[in-house]
Amino acid sequence: MKLFLDSANLTEIREAMSWGAIDGVTTNPSLVAKEHRDFFPLLKEICDVVNGPVSMETTCRDCSGMVEEGRVFSKLHPHIVVKCPLTKDGLKATRQLSAERIRVNVTLCFSPSQALLAAKAGAYFVSPFVGRLDDVSSDGMGVIRNIKTIYANYGFKTQILVASVRHPLHVVEAARIGADIATMPFTVLEALVKHPLTDAGLDRFLKDWEQLPPEAKQWKSTASKPPNPVSVSATSTG
Ligand code: E4P
Repeated sequence: MKLFLDSANLTEIREAMSWGAIDGVTTNPSLVAKEHRDFFPLLKEICDVVNGPVSMETTCRDCSGMVEEGRVFSKLHPHIVVKCPLTKDGLKATRQLSAERIRVNVTLCFSPSQALLAAKAGAYFVSPFVGRLDDVSSDGMGVIRNIKTIYANYGFKTQILVASVRHPLHVVEAARIGADIATMPFTVLEALVKHPLTDAGLDRFLKDWEQLPPEAKQWKSTASKPPNPVSVSATSTG
């Protein structure tokens, strides 16, 4: 399963990349607006940092505008995946851009029927928003299960990108269902790492280590010395 960071913040992206856990990034107009920077240079920098797909969202409602933006965005960097909303115009634009071999992430998906249409239009990714569904008392992860079944039934190649992830259990459940990707904010990525027993266990190990006298902890100087030839031959002949 791939994990993406849902962020346009370069500090967060660099930090997450340094953990080796992140395979790509998703952005949206709200996330980009929070950075108070010019859109294009920011996305270009994100693409240079991330070794994988970076989703960049179109910012209009009509098909021709989306297609025009999508063509320009796709030339910015080979990592760019163009996001189109799951509307009639978004589907038309997805069909057009996919035919031009431009990868499209169909976003704002809230139902299995919408996901079916995204796959038929040729989407590279479909992004069902589980958190926003949960917010209105719908079963976000249930939608993921249904999409997974439908795509498997007919062999659709569109990858399921679980979005609007709010907590670690969304990620675990997405992995159990077999979703291709989960994209999450940095706070959720941090929460994936955390476990109180890990922290308590490490505190205990380091406290116990303190009990050793300093001379018994001289690993740096001993590790750099070559092995003693006398003791090596004594062992091998013994
Ligand atoms: C995904 O691509 C979206 O950017 C994102 O997951 C939306 O999440 P939100 O519902 O927390 O805004």
